[in-house]
Amino acid sequence: MAEFVGAIDQGTTSTRFMIFDHGGNEIARHQLEHEQILPRAGWVEHDPIEIWERTRAVLQSTLNKANLQASDLAALGITNQRETTVVWNRRTGRPYYNAIVWQDTRTDRIASALDRDGRGDVIRRRTGLPPATYFAGGKIQWILENVDGVREAAERGEAVFGTTDSWLLWNLTGGPGGGVHVTDVTNASRTMLMDLETLDWDDELLSFFGIPRAMLPEIRPSASPDPYGVTRPNGPLGGAVPLTAALGDQQAATVGQVCFEPGQAKNTYGTGNFLLLNTGTTPVRSSHGLLTTVCYKFGDHDPVYALEGSIAVTGSAVQWLRDQLGIISGASQSESLARQVEDNGGVYFVPAFSGLFAPHWRSDARGAIVGLSRYNTNAHLARATLESICYQTRDVVDAMQKDSGVSLDVLKVDGGVTANELCMQIQADILGVPVSRPVVAETTALGAAYGAGLAVGFWKSTDELTANWNEDRRWEPRWTVEQRESGHAGWRKAVTRTLDWVD
Ligand code: G3P
Repeated sequence: MAEFVGAIDQGTTSTRFMIFDHGGNEIARHQLEHEQILPRAGWVEHDPIEIWERTRAVLQSTLNKANLQASDLAALGITNQRETTVVWNRRTGRPYYNAIVWQDTRTDRIASALDRDGRGDVIRRRTGLPPATYFAGGKIQWILENVDGVREAAERGEAVFGTTDSWLLWNLTGGPGGGVHVTDVTNASRTMLMDLETLDWDDELLSFFGIPRAMLPEIRPSASPDPYGVTRPNGPLGGAVPLTAALGDQQAATVGQVCFEPGQAKNTYGTGNFLLLNTGTTPVRSSHGLLTTVCYKFGDHDPVYALEGSIAVTGSAVQWLRDQLGIISGASQSESLARQVEDNGGVYFVPAFSGLFAPHWRSDARGAIVGLSRYNTNAHLARATLESICYQTRDVVDAMQKDSGVSLDVLKVDGGVTANELCMQIQADILGVPVSRPVVAETTALGAAYGAGLAVGFWKSTDELTANWNEDRRWEPRWTVEQRESGHAGWRKAVTRTLDWVD
């Protein structure tokens, strides 16, 4: 009997493979970054071949590190950056174009046109999403319209679309000519093409973007005893392991944080921030700028939905301090630099690099640093960057409270930025509620492993998973109400300065 479950986490900046035991403990991992291709302002691309190569490499090296073989894995789960769009030729396996990443804003004209003739409202009603550059539908349309030969190939059924879960499943199970072409409901719910209630592609929505149905993968549950496929024995694992779960990374983190009851929420701090609140088996429509999305669907059970506050730029604002401004040499230095000052010195940084996502949905916004005086230093900018992560979260938490009536008594957090202790303290101060980090901070990969393991009976029930969750550290709020509200008023004013920037 295999003692472990594996999970591939194909994220925005890197791909990792992790192996977990029955207690949800990490046994081994390996992670590799891939290139961020930035051909023009607002464009962000990845090379799908590079992503597949990185995936092969991390699979092999993690197994080697742990001294395990494919037969030691009971099942494999995949979790992935959502919305990022790959179109490839099903016969040759060659992508027609680089993957267009979720942060890419090249489709702003496609997205804004949707709201000029009523299509936007149909999209909102049927998919739970506001028309935006963020989602995959417009990105597929862009490729069909701008890359030679793709439309004809799509109509012949040769050019196919997938988010990176589909791309990896296809390559893992067969590759050219033979792989499975599937996705899961959580990923499909981020395309503007799937009906949130029927959980199927919707022909009217497809017609809005001119997308032939033959391009699209089959939509499957997020985890199922009937696997999507098995890894090919001559592939990177060197053996046949059933692929039994796929979830978008934020939904996977919600599972990894064991938010199985309506009213439970988590916030993941990665490239961006994503706060998801489990709302149970009925979709809750937002009137305050949140998304309605599928949280997970396990086997034949009813789908569970979530309200989501997606923030495009949080951890990547810290990377920007490192890569573009050069004022820090590594992410951890953002903490030591910010600690040199007591407060933000009046400086607010709104990192609206991809416009503003939730709760604003303004693709015309661009970043701004405001409130500067000669007194300010790099340390204030570092502090303002950490605060921007936390103020954006506060805006989303406020919206969630208005939509759901649920007020959080604690915020469960995970993701890379939660290693920044100062940032987590600022988060508790700005929200006025405690912030709690679990022992296993890799909740995204863990959630995919949980899905895969539940599907094959490695774990018998979600109760077993809930018993695995343990708190590592908790931050209590320290600011007075007055500090909190005046700080937030400054932030709100700064946000108004970023709007209407792009025509
Ligand atoms: O919706 C985008 C999200 O899935 C990306 O997450 O962690 O790769 O930045 P991450």
